[in-house]
Amino acid sequence: MVVDYYSKQLWCSPFLLFFFLTAIIMEEMKLIISTANQIPTTLEGPFPPVTRRFDSSLRRGSDDLPMDHPRLRKRVSPMFPEQISLALSSQPTSIWVSWVTGDAQIGSNVIPLDPSTVKSEVWYGTQSGNYQFSQTGKSEVYSQLYPFQGLLNYTSGIIHHVRLQGLEPGKKYYYKCGDTSLSAMSKEHTFKTLPLPSPINYPRRIAVVGDLGLTSNSTTTVDHMVKNDPSMILMLGDLTYANQYRTTGGKGVPCFSCAFPDAPIRETYQPRWDGWGRFMEPLISKVPMMVIGGNHEIETQAAGISFKSYSARFAVPSYESGSDSNFYYSFNAGGIHFIMLGAYVDYNTTGDSLYLLKFFCHFLVFMRVPNELMFYINLAFSSNLLMYHLQESYLQRFSVTGSQHTWLRKDLEQVDREVTPWLVAAWHPPWYNSYSSHYQEFECMRQEMEGLLYQFGVDIVFSGHVHAYERMNRMYNYTLDPCGPVYINVGDGGNIEKVDVEHADDPGKCPSPGDNMPEFGGVCHLNITSGPGKGQFCWDKQPEWSAFRESSFGHGILEVVNDTNALWTWHRNQDVYKEQSSGDQIYIVREPERCCATIK
Ligand SMILES: [Fe+2]
Repeated sequence: MVVDYYSKQLWCSPFLLFFFLTAIIMEEMKLIISTANQIPTTLEGPFPPVTRRFDSSLRRGSDDLPMDHPRLRKRVSPMFPEQISLALSSQPTSIWVSWVTGDAQIGSNVIPLDPSTVKSEVWYGTQSGNYQFSQTGKSEVYSQLYPFQGLLNYTSGIIHHVRLQGLEPGKKYYYKCGDTSLSAMSKEHTFKTLPLPSPINYPRRIAVVGDLGLTSNSTTTVDHMVKNDPSMILMLGDLTYANQYRTTGGKGVPCFSCAFPDAPIRETYQPRWDGWGRFMEPLISKVPMMVIGGNHEIETQAAGISFKSYSARFAVPSYESGSDSNFYYSFNAGGIHFIMLGAYVDYNTTGDSLYLLKFFCHFLVFMRVPNELMFYINLAFSSNLLMYHLQESYLQRFSVTGSQHTWLRKDLEQVDREVTPWLVAAWHPPWYNSYSSHYQEFECMRQEMEGLLYQFGVDIVFSGHVHAYERMNRMYNYTLDPCGPVYINVGDGGNIEKVDVEHADDPGKCPSPGDNMPEFGGVCHLNITSGPGKGQFCWDKQPEWSAFRESSFGHGILEVVNDTNALWTWHRNQDVYKEQSSGDQIYIVREPERCCATIK
């Protein structure tokens, strides 16, 4: 009776009732919060499509930084190194150091510098100020020539590349670069080598960014990336937008063809590349950057030569990875094998199908067709840059570009998933993209290469080109597939062209098939093959394969945890000052046992 009495008193007391109810609600809240904070995994996919539209309180773009901006201005005298950058070789025991000396020239009459006047030396060691080792390398200059009224020619400073070898993995190094005989050495810089290929060692943080440009938004992206402290960077093409500085950027003319009616070619303002090199130096003289070419790197000049700046400025491990082209290569970083593919160079299964075209090009070069005439012949093939590449290749190396497809198969066959469990691929224009911009633009490349990547179990594919963020559900051949790669587009680095906001499934925003023509390769547009939209070019709602999309500038960070789990975080520029904030976050989980039928 006594117990019953107290029990009744307890439950009837308003204070105690309030206390118990509050406790119950708090527990419920905790559960809700913990569920909300739980980072999803791809194992829970496919996810229903989600769109977060552009925040109209933000600006869709910003102006180019002026050439006299403190981050773009030259800060050393001519013989001293500047624009210092690092790139990984194919293994973590080797790294490329690049820099520029001398002054670039721009104007109607430019005289190339002589690279032999300055040595390419790197002195380095594991203690500050004590450089036990040294290596020498090679140097070159390149010119961008426009023999047309009113356009500016350019010739670069001397670009140096030195490959350091025999490095210890996971070790901090101190280095200086320059020419000791001229007493023109850089100040001391540092880098840390990545871990050896192994299923238990991974780069700490990999930053992924595309279509960066050189605007105020690019500045925010780079500062945000620095804050996230990456150990390497994947740079997915469209770097400087030098080819738009004279039109949309800077104080350029509003209409290029109106200002230069006699110019059959669009001038690129090459000093932007030097500005970009200085802008990036504080980050990439310390953290290796792995680059792949985008359409803004094509930069066609006189005689049909293209990709000159990209080719001269960046050291990539093409030779080390068995590629004969710096448009595609591979490398290892801890337990990850990276494949960097070229979308603006032959990607077909049978490269020899273009034999007659190649033969024709070789014949013209052999017959010493004048450059001017060759330029117009090239223009006739302007929808296909193969001619440019072939001529360039023939003149410089006396051999045509090898088949990327053949190289890719060989490279994939050599990957040992016991050593590098993760396989990550990257190229500039995405295969899967639900924005109106560049919709299905590189469908031909997808049809040529997707089967091979799926067969070998590529885990993640990064692309840029579209100026917005999108993460796909695992898919293969436009079909949801638990063993397909996770495709992620991060072409939202902050360039002058503004963020993309229209989706191909928005009413009236489906591009016509002629709207998105690739700068290289053919057109292979496909209509939807099943479901309510069967037979249509665009979906009437966000496609089931598009898991999440948002129109915002930003960059991503990939943190591989072990041989099956990796954390992917997309950081939006507007969140730069917020702690623990992200635009998108997911654990990408490999399932080698489930997908072993497809993985070689
Ligand atoms: Fe692009």
